[in-house]
Order: sequence, then C-alpha cells, then structure tokens
Amino acid sequence: MKQLYGVIGNPIGHSLSPLMHNDAFSALGIDAHYHAFRIEEEKLADAVSGFQAIEISGFNVTIPHKVAIMNYLDDIDELAKQIGAVNTVVNEGGRLVGYNTDGIGYVRSLQAISKDPLSKKRILLLGAGGACRAIYFSLASVGVTEIDIANRTVSRAAALIEACEHTIRSRALTPEAAAGMQQEYDIIINTTAVGMYPKTEDTPLVIQKLKKDAIVSDIIYNPLQTKLLKDAQRAGAVTQNGIDMFVYQGAMAFELWTKKWPDVERMKQLVIQKLGG
Ligand code: ATR
Repeated sequence: MKQLYGVIGNPIGHSLSPLMHNDAFSALGIDAHYHAFRIEEEKLADAVSGFQAIEISGFNVTIPHKVAIMNYLDDIDELAKQIGAVNTVVNEGGRLVGYNTDGIGYVRSLQAISKDPLSKKRILLLGAGGACRAIYFSLASVGVTEIDIANRTVSRAAALIEACEHTIRSRALTPEAAAGMQQEYDIIINTTAVGMYPKTEDTPLVIQKLKKDAIVSDIIYNPLQTKLLKDAQRAGAVTQNGIDMFVYQGAMAFELWTKKWPDVERMKQLVIQKLGG
C-alpha cells in the first residue's frame, strides 16, 4: 500500500516540502506520497489522532505547531527535547516519535561546505531566537567547542549559553562587540530575519575584514543572496544561503522515515528552480 507522509502548519500553502519529498520518493522508487495539511492551532490534537488512525508513516511540523506537537507524541528524541521543538515525527510501529532536524540538518549542510571538521572551528552565531537555539545545541552536540552568540538583546544570548548542557566556550556579545571581533571567526552564521525580503538592504553584521577562508552563512533564502552574503563574498568569504538548511532538514527527515539518504543536490535544484533563482 502507498505510504502517506506530510507536513502540518498554518499557513502551509507555499511549502516547498511536498515538491522536494515527492520527487525524492519517485527518484528512489519508493511508493509514497507527501501532502501539505493546513491545521489550525486548536485542531492539532484532532489532527494527530487522525494521523494515528490512518497510520501515517511520518510527518513534518512547522509554524505554529513545533512546540505544541510535543504534547501529543509517544516519545521525543534527546536533541529535540533540548531544543524544545519538533519538526519531524516518525511513526515507529504505531508510536509517534518526535525529532528535530532543523539544527542538525543545518550542521550537516555546513559540514558539506567546510574543508575541515567543524569541531575545530570558532563560530559566531548572530541572533538568539528559536532558530539559533536549534543550531547552537546541534553544533554543540557534534563537538564544536567555541561558539559565541551575539544578539540585540544580550540577555537572550546569555540564557541560551546557560541552557546548553555541553561543556563549550561561549560568550554572549552585543552585535557591536561581535562586529569588532569578526576577524576571529572561522564561521559566521546569521539566524535572525534581518536582511529578509522586503528589507533587503538591512544586515545583521557590517562586514569589515574577515578571517582568511571564513565561511559566512545565512539561514534566509528570500532573497537568495542577502546583503550579508554579498558583502561577505566581496570580502573573500565562502558563502552559503538558507536553501541548504531547508533542504538538509528535509533530507534528514527523509532519512529518518525511509533509512535512505536522498539526492540533496537534486532537491536543491528543484527548490531553487521553484523560487525562480
Ligand atoms: P526565530 O524562531 O525565527 O529564531 P525569534 O525567536 O523571534 O525567531 O528570534 C528572532 C531573532 O532575530 C532574535 O535574536 C531577535 O533579536 P532579539 O532577541 O533582540 O529580539 C533577532 N532580530 C529580529 N529582528 C531584529 C532586528 N531588527 N535587529 C536585530 N535583531 C533582530
């Protein structure tokens, strides 16, 4: 019987996940379909019961359900628990188990463009919201030991550092202090929405001088090239846009469901094409 997968969120009409997963299923000859379901917040419990009744094989979870979904699952993976949000659910023999592939997917995409192991890198994170939390804990979980966090509200950065269970060297910085220290970092990652359409002239960090071979990465994908990335490229950095994070979180969910690693380059091209890039 054809297996069913999906994504729940609200709004969900513009989700690129069905395109990406359905193409990967067909490329690997897996008899499955992935559908986008718009679920209102107050209908979340009903939706999960329905999914259990029809024995859905797995689903992704997006805004606004990533935290609330945790109340309806049979088990939650350690990293997802630490992050405090679930974006992927796997039906493991009737038990719904929650994972978070946002941060660890992002880490895998970063590893894919880094010549050396990430554990040796000094990293600066810009922002201290939900996306930053997922990335920070995921970087720590793969053995990165030097990660500073710069945020407009410094206390939020300090709270994230406080909450991290791993022993790492981290400082909570003001954006101004981080800008003055930018040359110290091997990797700089923007996790804020600063620079996103329509305010594309904004940047979370004024680039002055970067370390040789620095990587500058932005989780934004609209526009594909933010001002931060354009400036960083001009300063000689290797850059990465938010498509990679989106594609790799999807690829890791796909792997949890099917035990198969999809063709991420093919996924990436599909998404870029759809976004008109
Ligand atoms: P998400 O879950 O997408 O990470 P969030 O939790 O609202 O969203 O976090 C947004 C992040 O972007 C925060 O770090 C926020 O800074 P504050 O903690 O000071 O609010 C940052 N951010 C949003 N708009 C910003 C702006 N205009 N300038 C600087 N930082 C901004």
